[in-house]
Amino acid sequence: MLEVSGVSKSFPGVKALQDISVQFHDGEIHALLGENGAGKSTLMKIICGIYKADKGTVSLDGKELKLHGYGDAVRHHISMVHQEIQMIPEASIAENIINDKIAQFTKFGFVNWKAINEFALKYMKEVGLDLPPEKKVRFLSAAHKQLIQIAKALSADARVLLLDEPTSSLTLHEADVLFELVRKLKEKGMIIIFVSHKLEEVQVIADRVTVFRDGKLVGSDHIKNMENSRIIKMMIGRDFVYSYRGRLDAGDKDVVLEAKNITSRIHGFKNLSFQVHRGEILGFYGLVGSGRTELIRTMLNIDKCDGGEVFLEGKPVKIDSFKTALHKYKIGYVTENRKEEGLFLEHTVGTNICVNSLNKSYYGRIPFINLKKERENAGFFANRLEIKTPSLSTLAGKLSGGNQQKISIAKWLAADCDILIIDEPTVGVDIGAKEYIHELIWNLAAKEGKTVILISSDMNEMISLARRILIFKDKQITGELSGEEFFAKPGEEISAEIGKSFV
Ligand SMILES: Nc1ncnc2c1ncn2[C@@H]1O[C@H](COP(=O)(O)OP(=O)(O)OP(=O)(O)O)[C@@H](O)[C@H]1O
Ligand SMILES: [Mg+2]
Repeated sequence: MLEVSGVSKSFPGVKALQDISVQFHDGEIHALLGENGAGKSTLMKIICGIYKADKGTVSLDGKELKLHGYGDAVRHHISMVHQEIQMIPEASIAENIINDKIAQFTKFGFVNWKAINEFALKYMKEVGLDLPPEKKVRFLSAAHKQLIQIAKALSADARVLLLDEPTSSLTLHEADVLFELVRKLKEKGMIIIFVSHKLEEVQVIADRVTVFRDGKLVGSDHIKNMENSRIIKMMIGRDFVYSYRGRLDAGDKDVVLEAKNITSRIHGFKNLSFQVHRGEILGFYGLVGSGRTELIRTMLNIDKCDGGEVFLEGKPVKIDSFKTALHKYKIGYVTENRKEEGLFLEHTVGTNICVNSLNKSYYGRIPFINLKKERENAGFFANRLEIKTPSLSTLAGKLSGGNQQKISIAKWLAADCDILIIDEPTVGVDIGAKEYIHELIWNLAAKEGKTVILISSDMNEMISLARRILIFKDKQITGELSGEEFFAKPGEEISAEIGKSFV
């Protein structure tokens, strides 16, 4: 048994954990839940020696652990998969999996690459990762990177496995494979602790649930006593009500953006075309890797475009980069890879929110930043999205994962784009912020007449926002949904089954 007792931890301006006591039993899958910034990752990092608690103890099998860093935890067979993807992009999959145990594979200065690749392959198979172990990580999708991190944690021969939002960039299928594996590990008596914002998966996989709010433990109970409404109430301190948005109305004639025959050699697709109308939210639905993000990246020439044309308001345009798209054509793209591409972690929360809309902080037309205005603009979004930060001048890198996510969405919502392409906007954000981000996206289209392309693998999100949905499968657009077939009332549970039937 792993026992946390009386643990407290503070950071400047934040009491991240206050007097936390929880027990984690052998052969148990234990979910830690709470809003963004509630303290979940901090507790995990204390358990695995990355942070030192200010007060309290962690003990395993009755013995107090006094860990000095993560290496120490690994020696005690405790391993963690981080919320953020931490990888060496220029190294191979196998090298990333073994990088903390290279000594095992080295003799008299010679590295046994064959043994390394075989070792890696064994754990890659366990997580269902079907790729050559020599492949460089740089070219892989977020989902694949996440699976590699899990393979790496398993390879440490763990007894306690900490998974911090392990499914945030996985598809339904990959998450199923992972859960299958986690169940097997549980059978072997392992202690598995995991964090998730997806309550459906918590209901399926967890044995026990512990809920945090603002650094305090609100309750801990067996999953059978924890229906979603109770969990949500514990997390946010009140009942949650879904708002009703209705269906978005937009003209079918007024094509704002058209992509014709977009072709990419690196991603392996040919002649993909679509149109999007003014003021509509067009959904791109499909599994990760099905071509949704790849099509956008190619259309914007972030990844090389090998053919095809783009028309804006009927006129051909040449988009040669992300920058041209934004500054010349007012097309914004919120990448799914926010952690790697989206934020300046060494800059303040305020600067990050305003970075795409600097002109709104100018002194009139003079291109000189008025700091007071910048603070006002940033403050507006920080309040509305309930970004949990000691102040707007805190460095973005100090915030919890979900709060960083909120910033990277906020900065695009603050930007002045006519067309906004948003990739997986609510992965990792808590239920309140998710609802609010939905409302903001909805209002951009419904009230401001902006055009939105929404890429998501969350069918509920798609259905509650999109007016038309294009279905992607195997790098092809295989169908279009519009109309009543996917309309549901807010709050109505639309099962992922609908999504599964299309992909
Ligand atoms: N290294 C740090 N320096 C300063 N503050 C920190 C640091 N790590 C965490 N915090 C703060 O501690 C609080 C708890 O953060 P934590 O990362 O544990 O939240 P979380 O529950 O994991 O949230 P999320 O769902 O967003 O990942 C937050 O207010 C966060 O800003
Ligand atoms: Mg976290």
